[in-house]
Amino acid sequence: MTDKQLRVSKIENGTVIDHVPGGQALNVLAIVGIDGSGGEQVSVGMNVPSDRLGRKDVVKIEDRELSPEEVDVLSLIAPRATINIVREYEVSEKLRVSRPERVVGVLSCPNANCITTEEEPVESSFEVLSDGVRCGYCDTIVRDEIADLIDND
Ligand code: CTP
Ligand code: ZN
Repeated sequence: MTDKQLRVSKIENGTVIDHVPGGQALNVLAIVGIDGSGGEQVSVGMNVPSDRLGRKDVVKIEDRELSPEEVDVLSLIAPRATINIVREYEVSEKLRVSRPERVVGVLSCPNANCITTEEEPVESSFEVLSDGVRCGYCDTIVRDEIADLIDND
């Protein structure tokens, strides 16, 4: 790699989420629950040139690994993402995301009358479609605004 290509510094330990569609980096941070207030060290590259994607975003989070639930939701907005676990400056694991059949308890249904959005202690559950997600309770389908459903409580 030449100096010209290196946009964001390498990290020592943590996770690099690479090959994120251009413009989705802030949604990736929302999925992993980072808004800056927790003091995490995060570097973001947005709309950097990529051979595979044309333009891509890259998110580097120091001293953090992702939970399987976070990776599941990530797959919905970044199906071609690569998750690199970095230890002592080297990539020690490289994982591809895969789309789960269902995501439970991570997205909130946009339908105000849905049983999962009322006071009842019913966990949300969405079936993953090829082009979106469908609420398992009220059948509401969301295609483009999945990131807006992320439950950050
Ligand atoms: N990376 C980093 N800090 C490190 C090591 C790697 O930030 N200490 C980043 C790289 O900048 C790159 C990603 O982690 O964005 C993956 O690194 P690497 O596997 O070395 O790059 P590529 O071979 O280009 O990855 P791929 O084949 O997945 O495109
Ligand atoms: Zn619903």
